Amino acid sequence: MTLKNTTDRWGGVSQFLHWLIMLLILILAVVGLSLDSLPKSPKYFWVYDLHKSTGLAVLALVVLRLGWRLYAGSPAPVAGTPTWQARIAGLTHWALYALILAIPLSGWLYDSASGLRPLKWFGLFTVPKLSAPNEGLRDLAHEAHEWLFWVLVALVAVHVAAAFYHHIFQRDDTLTRMLPRRRKASPTSR
Ligand code: HEM
Ligand code: HEM
Repeated sequence: MTLKNTTDRWGGVSQFLHWLIMLLILILAVVGLSLDSLPKSPKYFWVYDLHKSTGLAVLALVVLRLGWRLYAGSPAPVAGTPTWQARIAGLTHWALYALILAIPLSGWLYDSASGLRPLKWFGLFTVPKLSAPNEGLRDLAHEAHEWLFWVLVALVAVHVAAAFYHHIFQRDDTLTRMLPRRRKASPTSR
């Protein structure tokens, strides 16, 4: 597998980052939505901190992914894609990038403006606060964190539907070029 993107396929680095970020966001969503119903035991704060540290790791991975995207480019639209469809796909992809940057940033701002105890990233180092304690900003960042997440859910639903539409009905390479290539059977294998 090539690491860099080619004109017709996503390379290993883009594929790895796409699926890793998706998996981490799924875990963050499940944990984030359960936070309210957890008993307020010492474990509660541990789960809270794990959500925050993992969310910040996603922020770093998205920055890395964007840097790689700018350096390695992207494959051309699949042959036969009408220009309007390629434009909508491009817009959707940039909106997804904007959301997966804005969601962890709003979480970080929420944590900062709450004036909580210092956050240690996976217990390793103290994460700087983005602002002084501020009730108004805290509520705004909290609302943003929640609402941007639901916008992401809606956009990902469209994104996934489009990927399967291409795969099942258009029978093109849109989905498979974001997946590792299956090894071809050698002529001698039985
Ligand atoms: C891509 C990354 C992230 C995703 C997808 C995500 C997702 C979520 C979701 C779905 C919730 C539940 C929303 C609600 O019902 O209120 C939540 C809550 C929360 N998140 Fe995140 N989060 C991310 C990153 C972060 C980061 C980086 C921080 C802080 C450094 C953070 C701090 C919080 C806090 C404190 C809550 C609890 C809010 C409350 O008290 O109700 N999140 N997150
Ligand atoms: C949190 C969930 C997801 C996010 C945030 C996300 C985000 C993105 C982004 C930003 C791109 C554009 C890549 C670029 O132009 O640099 C992309 C491409 C792609 N995604 Fe996702 N994705 C998610 C989940 C999924 C899922 C579940 C599937 C399929 C089952 C999927 C299938 C694809 C495919 C096939 C492409 C390549 C499209 C093309 O080559 O034109 N994604 N995704």
